[in-house]
Amino acid sequence: MPMSESFQDRLFPNLPRIVEHFGTPFHIYDEKGIRKTLQSLIGAFCSRRIDFKEFYAVKALPKLDIMHIIKSEDCGFDCSSIPELRLAYDVQATPDDIMFTSNNTSQEEFKEAMTVRCILNLDDEIFIDKIPGNFPELVSFRLNPGNRKTGDEVNSIIGNPVDSKYGVPIENIVRAYGRAKGKGATSFGLHTMVCSNDLDYTHLVSTLSLLLEVSALIYRELGIRIQFVNVGGGVGIPYRLEDKSFNMEGFAEAAKILLLRFEAFHRFVPKLYMESGRYVTGPHGVLVNRVINVYEKYKSFVGVEVAMPALMRVGMYSSAYHHCTVLDKNFIPKDGPTRIVTIAGSICENCDVLARDILLPVVEEGDYIITHDTGAHGSAMGFNYNGRTRPQELLLNDHSVLRIGVAETYEDLERHGDYKEISLS
Ligand SMILES: Cc1ncc(COP(=O)(O)O)c(C=O)c1O
Repeated sequence: MPMSESFQDRLFPNLPRIVEHFGTPFHIYDEKGIRKTLQSLIGAFCSRRIDFKEFYAVKALPKLDIMHIIKSEDCGFDCSSIPELRLAYDVQATPDDIMFTSNNTSQEEFKEAMTVRCILNLDDEIFIDKIPGNFPELVSFRLNPGNRKTGDEVNSIIGNPVDSKYGVPIENIVRAYGRAKGKGATSFGLHTMVCSNDLDYTHLVSTLSLLLEVSALIYRELGIRIQFVNVGGGVGIPYRLEDKSFNMEGFAEAAKILLLRFEAFHRFVPKLYMESGRYVTGPHGVLVNRVINVYEKYKSFVGVEVAMPALMRVGMYSSAYHHCTVLDKNFIPKDGPTRIVTIAGSICENCDVLARDILLPVVEEGDYIITHDTGAHGSAMGFNYNGRTRPQELLLNDHSVLRIGVAETYEDLERHGDYKEISLS
């Protein structure tokens, strides 16, 4: 979604000072926008008396200052690695507020998660016997629905569940809970994630419906009352101007009906959890780049300071698009004659682009390109090929701009050997 008018109104007039002070390039995130989205997300469920919690997917924007904001809006965190767990407890998230959804999990990761005593969401039955120490009282499993997701419900990014590495196959799910119960677990959750960047709320409704159906099966077979169902992340944002926003109110209303029906039948009802990343922070970040070259080949190119190390999505997914705005040297939005251009960085790969064949006002050297929707899966996915580095990250709040991530430097990349040696003789 192109940045909100409010974000634009607070950012653009201040860009000259921000650029003068911090230089370019940078991502800048909007605290106000993140708070507003979280409040309306939580409000959609609480106003319908649904026992709801958002566990922000840390992988989308793993920055302490952003996590402080999110925690203060009463959210927990979905973590998938030791560094993400450490970020969560660095912002003093309580064990109940951290869900560890890992896959191909190592013993070190389980040890760390057990030390934190967070909620373990197991990706496979084999992990029942691999958890070190006492088996946790509360445990969750990630479900792989297999052939239950077909047709237009197969998400283009996640793919067909039967080809996926994630989750316990639906045919084995009752057995998994039975085994966990046998190990001493007394409380249980159920999770799945079968969408990514999905704008159709009915797909999430059918995900919830499936989780409730499986919860009912587990209750019937084992007498286990699932305490929470977690529909995962994957809520889409309208990256393109013509895209429609995800209908969160529509999802919440349908969720209410499903949960009430479940409660009427079974006399208990699971809490509803969600672990959105993109939906929460995605629209509230932009990447500000200066145009360093404009050149003509068989196509027209606009060369900017950084592309893929700051935002991989367009290079990585053929369907990905990020809206761009051109500002002139004086930071005034450009209009007038247009031209189709590709916005590229300097990496020795043709996919190092922020936009392909996009219609923009004619761009000149020294202009600025604002790439929208970089608040999730942007800097977090960046990489260092060719020794190119990720840019700084700034946070716009009511009265100031704060640097919450310094630009990487050559010193960060330099890794000398420690000359540890073993003799082979
Ligand atoms: C397990 C899990 N949960 C949540 C998310 C967040 O997804 P999104 O940012 O699209 O909401 C991801 C993303 O890859 C994920 O793998």
